[in-house]
Amino acid sequence: MTSSYRLPSQPFEDFTKSLIDSLRNIKNVIVVLSGKGGVGKSFIAASLAISFKLMGRDVAVLDADFHGPSIPWILGIEDRYPGVTIDGKIVPVDVEGISVISIELMLDDRKNPIIWRGPMKSKAILELISKTFWGSKDYLVVDLPPGTGDEPLTIAQYLRVKPIASILVLTPGAMVKHIVEKAKQFLNLLNIPFIGTVINMSYYRCPQCRTVTRILGSVDIDPREVLVEIPLDPQLSQVIERGTLLSFIKNNENETATILRNLGRIVEDRLKNLNLRV
Ligand SMILES: Nc1ncnc2c1ncn2[C@@H]1O[C@H](COP(=O)(O)OP(=O)(O)OP(=O)(O)O)[C@@H](O)[C@H]1O
Ligand SMILES: [Mg+2]
Repeated sequence: MTSSYRLPSQPFEDFTKSLIDSLRNIKNVIVVLSGKGGVGKSFIAASLAISFKLMGRDVAVLDADFHGPSIPWILGIEDRYPGVTIDGKIVPVDVEGISVISIELMLDDRKNPIIWRGPMKSKAILELISKTFWGSKDYLVVDLPPGTGDEPLTIAQYLRVKPIASILVLTPGAMVKHIVEKAKQFLNLLNIPFIGTVINMSYYRCPQCRTVTRILGSVDIDPREVLVEIPLDPQLSQVIERGTLLSFIKNNENETATILRNLGRIVEDRLKNLNLRV
């Protein structure tokens, strides 16, 4: 099983300079992280980018997750390929004005999994970032690999060449306190400001009687840290699977779409309150 993407050639230490150069016209980096997998991190990263775009911001998304590179699928661009500039820079795939880069989009064969080891994956992501023509962007939203291990750490560490902040995605459940603790340690270690938490699959609202049920349990965290609570919504899983999240958020007035549409505004307000550059 091989992948068509060339192995990274640059030595690790060299990335700072090329990242500063490549990201020079990006104002803010927002990393989306989660303490564990499958909580909706990629969906939130994509939704945040869509929400920013609908606010009129210039936005790019980087899918830095090798094993579950779901951003292209969520945005319905899994069959597209990035372009290339005359001087050999990678041009992101455009989705209604959102620039998207993912290792997945670089592959000829998208059926086989990538089997590189941790350090190779981090290097490949860093090389991909440094060889991309990002253009001028207000925000680069980064879907980090799940967890708080070596890979997300290395990538986040290098992205600190820009003003950077972070969003944590959680689902309710017994492990929440532990996950939040670990994520905060991770952010402290890297000195990355924390914007707040998105609680995904927070509740289910019965479409008939409108009663709210907290199916997955409660979340015992400081309410001031919560950015939004997103319902467990069967329509949403279909939308995500079909790659139609953008038109769902843009064209619907229902509860879930409205919450997601407001996400960018909430994040931007928090950034201003934290005195971070917007
Ligand atoms: N609020 C929601 N309601 C219903 N389904 C959801 C919701 N949020 C996410 N999902 C579904 O949960 C699954 C996981 O979402 P997603 O891929 O965004 O998670 P992730 O944290 O990025 O996972 P990974 O750790 O594998 O990268 C998807 O199939 C998505 O359709
Ligand atoms: Mg994901």
